[in-house]
Amino acid sequence: MVMTSRKHQWSLARRTLAGLLASLAASALLTHAAAAQDVDADTGLVIADGWETVKNNCTICHSAKLVTQNRGSREHWADLITWMQDTQGLWEFPPEMENTILDYLSSHYGPKHETRRQNLPPNLMPPAASAGESAPSS
Ligand code: HEC
Repeated sequence: MVMTSRKHQWSLARRTLAGLLASLAASALLTHAAAAQDVDADTGLVIADGWETVKNNCTICHSAKLVTQNRGSREHWADLITWMQDTQGLWEFPPEMENTILDYLSSHYGPKHETRRQNLPPNLMPPAASAGESAPSS
């Protein structure tokens, strides 16, 4: 009697656990699919306003990876474009198109430090690090 009811409880618990795991897996898949949709499969460019202009103008001479692996401010991107125009045979863009490109690049491939979280305050650091015990003496 007792054994049966324990067994029953156990199988219920297992079924609940299996259901939980299945729904976790499903939501992980959904999240993954949603994230994958935001990036162009061909180029890896983030799909957002202006991405097609960038795809059409910036992936002809070199891989889009050169673009997606680079980061920088609007000025950085503008300088880079000027440099490619002056020395690498990149064509001139109508101002409006250049604006679109720079808006896109600076908002989706902006400076890295802006996306990094703030440093932890000292009171949240482990004792050794805040006491400087393990830091090399200089
Ligand atoms: C006419 C050809 C051409 C086009 C079009 C072109 N580039 Fe380039 N780009 C180059 C060349 C050549 C290099 C140097 C590649 C190397 O170093 O091997 C380069 C390098 C780069 C680099 C790397 C710079 C570095 O510091 O190493 C980035 C980023 C880049 N291009 C972005 C862009 C973007 C954004 C566009 C579109 C606005 C674009 N490119 C369009 C020719 C081009």
